[in-house]
Amino acid sequence: MHWNKTMATKPDERKHAEAKSAEEIAAAYKSEPWWYDLRGFFILTFAYNSSLTRQIRLFGANLGTRHLEVACGTGTLLEMILRWRAWKGLPRVDIVGVDYAEAMLAGAMKRFRGQAGMRFLHADAAAMPFEGDAFDTVNIANAIHCLPQVNAALQEMHRVLKPGGTLAANVLLYPRGRWPWRSIAQRINDWGIRKGILVTPYEESDVRNRILKAGFEILREEVSGNCYELVVRKKTATSA
Ligand SMILES: C[S@@+](CC[C@H](N)C(=O)[O-])C[C@H]1O[C@@H](n2cnc3c(N)ncnc32)[C@H](O)[C@@H]1O
Repeated sequence: MHWNKTMATKPDERKHAEAKSAEEIAAAYKSEPWWYDLRGFFILTFAYNSSLTRQIRLFGANLGTRHLEVACGTGTLLEMILRWRAWKGLPRVDIVGVDYAEAMLAGAMKRFRGQAGMRFLHADAAAMPFEGDAFDTVNIANAIHCLPQVNAALQEMHRVLKPGGTLAANVLLYPRGRWPWRSIAQRINDWGIRKGILVTPYEESDVRNRILKAGFEILREEVSGNCYELVVRKKTATSA
């Protein structure tokens, strides 16, 4: 096997991941919304090797009548998705957004102030204040790898979805591809982990196992750039 820096840093990243609390991660997300957005675009391009168009298509297609946006951030991506849906003539939906960082949540509240059907709450993805079977769809965009308690968060997303409801997610993988892109992505990830805005990238098989363990069935999965993209479903009584 070819040894590279990516492999060398994995155990340290995992140790680091275990050490972070939800409060520490939320504190790392205290930047001004405009700086967060600019930085996010850079990370999306060079660490995720993804694009806004790709994300809008993935997440924009998964908005049911009652929708939950977990780790919504400042709502920049969500706003783009809603514009895209309006342009496509897709129906308006009721949206609840949650995030654990007050600064991010404040950005989202300001962005959507006065818009009907939009509600934002402070909540930890691993312990959400909703009844079971409450939502038709859940999206978690660019955030699974930012959560300290991934399994608990996946179980929560499963709990609040109605049977047959769908979850769309993308997860940052350990950098792949050719030099210099792999090395650039690795450096950005190392910086993100030091700063506290990234907990850890994942192996595709690890995420897959966690998703299945939470009780979901996989409808669609694809690796694109350094991201693992999934659309999964909460089983119904007949599909269980
Ligand atoms: C990279 S940002 C993604 C934001 C947004 N979904 C987007 O795509 O622009 C990750 C988000 O996860 C949030 N977050 C981190 N830990 C969280 C937790 N335990 N519960 C809820 N949100 C959390 C952060 O505050 C941040 O807004």
